[in-house]
Amino acid sequence: MSDIRWRHKDLLDTEELSASEITYLLDMAERFDEINARPVKKVPTLRGKGIVLFFAEASTRTRTSFEVAGKRLSADTYALAASGSSISKGESLRDTALTLEAMAPDIIVIRHSAGGAAAFLAERLHCSVVNAGDGCHAHPTQALLDAFTLRRHWQGDMRGKSLLIVGDIAHSRVARSNVFLWQKFGVTVRVFGPRTLLPPGIRGWPVEVCEDLDEAVAGADAVMVLRLQLERQQAGLLPDLSEYAGRFCIGMKHLEKAAPDTVVLHPGPINRGLEIASDLADSGRSRILDQVAAGVAVRMAVLFTLGMRDEPEQSAAGGV
Ligand code: CP
Repeated sequence: MSDIRWRHKDLLDTEELSASEITYLLDMAERFDEINARPVKKVPTLRGKGIVLFFAEASTRTRTSFEVAGKRLSADTYALAASGSSISKGESLRDTALTLEAMAPDIIVIRHSAGGAAAFLAERLHCSVVNAGDGCHAHPTQALLDAFTLRRHWQGDMRGKSLLIVGDIAHSRVARSNVFLWQKFGVTVRVFGPRTLLPPGIRGWPVEVCEDLDEAVAGADAVMVLRLQLERQQAGLLPDLSEYAGRFCIGMKHLEKAAPDTVVLHPGPINRGLEIASDLADSGRSRILDQVAAGVAVRMAVLFTLGMRDEPEQSAAGGV
């Protein structure tokens, strides 16, 4: 396993991580994945540490996997949702966070609809902050679990590979965090989607913008389909959902011209028949449930790394 000196208090985006730091987290996640395959899936490494899961936006995969990850490391996890908390009485994000920190957690994991919410807390709190998705900005642990999934599929040989990201790029924190991760490993990222759902600054991103879906899929080593985020869209970005499905929904027919080992990812939740057809989502090409499983191992690696950052004598290898 790679060894490095961890220098971050928080995990806010993939942009701030070096290739060595990402490799370190993925290597550690491999070790946690072995533990997750054991009959007893629990290790004592974060015993006595407290982790707050502060989800001010809906989540199934991320919230549950952070909770499973914390519990498998023997940390105490505490969940707070926006509904049912004093946020609904008008308490500010800052005051909510200071209140939570007064209870002395070691890590706060936050999901919030505002881009920059995690960084806002990280600047003000002494404990570690993990960004579990902030608006359209970043979702670093999703990009890390995507990397874990593809690194395994590509047997560690990532340089020169190509990843096609299809769909609602403009509203996707997943796309952005993936783009900045893969750039560090020599993977070419291509994007395809309706012009209204490409971010205004896309020409400044390290990506190639594709014009033809069939050609783009045929040349890809992996295809990542994104959810159409209707909840974040202004009226008028899409004229009609059935037209969107007709032009952008990816199915098995699109994979016919791709290499036999081209796989399909989706961060979830999926809109079947809108951005991905069931024949593909449920096929052998799909890595969607592998991504979910990887999420637990990757989040264990992140929580372990941040939870132990003040205890240098405890190496990652020794802790696991
Ligand atoms: N991929 C993802 O973030 O899923 P959830 O919204 O269910 O957490």
